[in-house]
Amino acid sequence: MNEKQMAGEKAAEFIEDGMILGLGTGSTVYYMLQELGKRVQGGLNIHGVSTSKATTNLAKSLNIPLCSINDIDGIDLTIDGADEVDGELNGIKGGGGALLYEKVVASMSSKVIWIVDSAKRVDSLGRFPLPVEVLPFGSRYLFRIFEKEGLQPAFRKKGEALFITDSGHTIIDLKVPRMEDPQKTASWLDGLTGVIEHGLFLNMADLLIVGEPEGPTVVHR
Ligand code: A5P
Repeated sequence: MNEKQMAGEKAAEFIEDGMILGLGTGSTVYYMLQELGKRVQGGLNIHGVSTSKATTNLAKSLNIPLCSINDIDGIDLTIDGADEVDGELNGIKGGGGALLYEKVVASMSSKVIWIVDSAKRVDSLGRFPLPVEVLPFGSRYLFRIFEKEGLQPAFRKKGEALFITDSGHTIIDLKVPRMEDPQKTASWLDGLTGVIEHGLFLNMADLLIVGEPEGPTVVHR
């Protein structure tokens, strides 16, 4: 079994009957959804809140019941992937472009579990390019600010065209190697007009499940 599958299936064990579940996005979440689909077929009663069109489509194909985020007051548990995670369970997300909805769903959740393969663990954040979701209006100006800061910005592309998120924004990926103070970087980005959201997810994950050659490891924050 590959490491992503191992982590995804282990996370499904934390799902209990009656839960409102945040459903993350990505190739590791894919395996969790497959397992969840089987359990729903077996009678498990849950409702999912999706973080992307891709997850909505996959959940529907597996007959996993979904509800609208605006019809609920909170989420019991969210299971999502991550692009890299440090020792304090801070992470970078958004490699798949779903960071905005993922962060909204995570912030409404009583508990957040991340599922990753072992290659995603890092000593300090910054190996993975940091996605910044921006309003297309004025995004060139933000791009130039990032350039001046030496962050080697790149507009994310899909083929020849700009990548557009599910909420209609564009993404600028930044290089922030060996990020010394992720909170400082997050606060700086939060303060820039036109930045909708960024991929630094700090103090959000409660539990990390890592697929490893010997089996899944569960790490608590
Ligand atoms: C989606 O935007 C991301 O935050 C994903 O959760 C992250 O990229 C992990 O994806 P994989 O499980 O496909 O590596």
